Amino acid sequence: MTVVFPANRFPVIFRKGIEALIYSSEQTYIRHKAMSIQDKNILLGVCGGIAACKIPMLVRILKKKGARVRILMTEAATKFVTELTLATLSQEPVQKDIFPEKYSAGDDWTRHISIGEWADAYVIAPATAHTVARLAAGMCDDLLSAAFITLRSGKPKLLFPAMDGEMFGSASVRRNLNWLSENGCSVIDPESGALASGQCGTGRMPEPETIAAILEQTLAENRSTLLANKSIVITAGPTREKIDDVRFISNYSSGKMGFALAGAAAGRGAAVTLITGPAHLETPEGVTRIDVENAEEMDNAVQEHYRTCDIFIGAAAVADYRPAHQVTGKIKKSSETMSVALVKNPDVLAGFAAQKTSAQIAVGFSLEAEENLRNAKEKLAKKKLDLIAYNTFDGRTSGFEVDTNVLTLIDRDGKADELPLLSKPEAAERVLDAVEKLLNSDE
Ligand code: CTP
Repeated sequence: MTVVFPANRFPVIFRKGIEALIYSSEQTYIRHKAMSIQDKNILLGVCGGIAACKIPMLVRILKKKGARVRILMTEAATKFVTELTLATLSQEPVQKDIFPEKYSAGDDWTRHISIGEWADAYVIAPATAHTVARLAAGMCDDLLSAAFITLRSGKPKLLFPAMDGEMFGSASVRRNLNWLSENGCSVIDPESGALASGQCGTGRMPEPETIAAILEQTLAENRSTLLANKSIVITAGPTREKIDDVRFISNYSSGKMGFALAGAAAGRGAAVTLITGPAHLETPEGVTRIDVENAEEMDNAVQEHYRTCDIFIGAAAVADYRPAHQVTGKIKKSSETMSVALVKNPDVLAGFAAQKTSAQIAVGFSLEAEENLRNAKEKLAKKKLDLIAYNTFDGRTSGFEVDTNVLTLIDRDGKADELPLLSKPEAAERVLDAVEKLLNSDE
């Protein structure tokens, strides 16, 4: 997607809660949810212009937001900001040349390719007239320009040109920027104001906060592509298994994780059906909700979607057992002890996974009382899942009722991704990122 902010409509950012307003000088604004860039791989290309002095601040902001940042510099950039400063702030070695001075065992021999594969987004700031020309010409004579070509398709490329006003307005720069903009690059025009030459004009690089916000918005927009129009069924909440007409067996599940997944999937353009046990939560916008009470009802509702859904996510805490006999009315306390015979409930998730086609994706959760990654891996294999989100419950940061979660995502190849402590909406985004990776690998 190409985003062009025209010159003289420079963005100013106001932060308010988790939302940001991007204003232009004409007082039009784009309101968007500030999607976190936590754990995203951001490649930052720095060229040789005076605005490079703002880049350390940008790196700090991105790191604070939890992004992994790797920096590629042109030789000229080192005249304006030191490698040491950027390496220290990014906590990664800064790279410049395709061919390092010396090679040693274990080196990445094809780093111009792997760096492009690693990145979730590539920001080039400041982009000088010289580098803009090199990029438009398809040259790859340093790592910065080579990575521009090897970046995986669909990943955002953001270019922040910054230079003298006359240079910016020159025919060659206009031509090169137009070409880049027409060929999948987001070109963000510079702001107007005082320039290094002492003159006033268009050419100033936006402030680091603005760059970070534009990147955040671009990543959020980019997110919605793979799940758009996919049909996703999500189970959530607890189930209630009736003992008699006034009592039931249940658990402490609040439904927060499943509802967060439903909201996040709808936000990415998916057609979401949320099949939930009793939960006191608002239905996320754009989601079709089906309320059920017990495991059998949940199973029946899911079966209706067996053939039509692309992705099934079992986030419900389904009761494993139900009373063998339901008593009508109310059981009287006639004796000192009482036992209730239980029978096994259908496994909703395993039922879906057992019949699914290779094009359908089954995702489960594995809540374990204590650290037991092996158990989660066994569940993944036994239930024939494509992905499992393993978590323990400590009642404070993860598990039932709380607003955060600590998940480890394990895919069908056994690859585990340990996520940090996240809010449930953010954890939901990460689960969906992993689902999108599976969709990508299936293509
Ligand atoms: N699940 C389900 N139907 C059930 C039980 C579980 O759909 N009757 C789903 C849950 O939604 C979750 C996954 O299966 O995605 C794992 O559930 P969990 O209770 O952790 O595992 P179980 O297979 O039930 O095993 P155990 O309780 O012994 O750990």
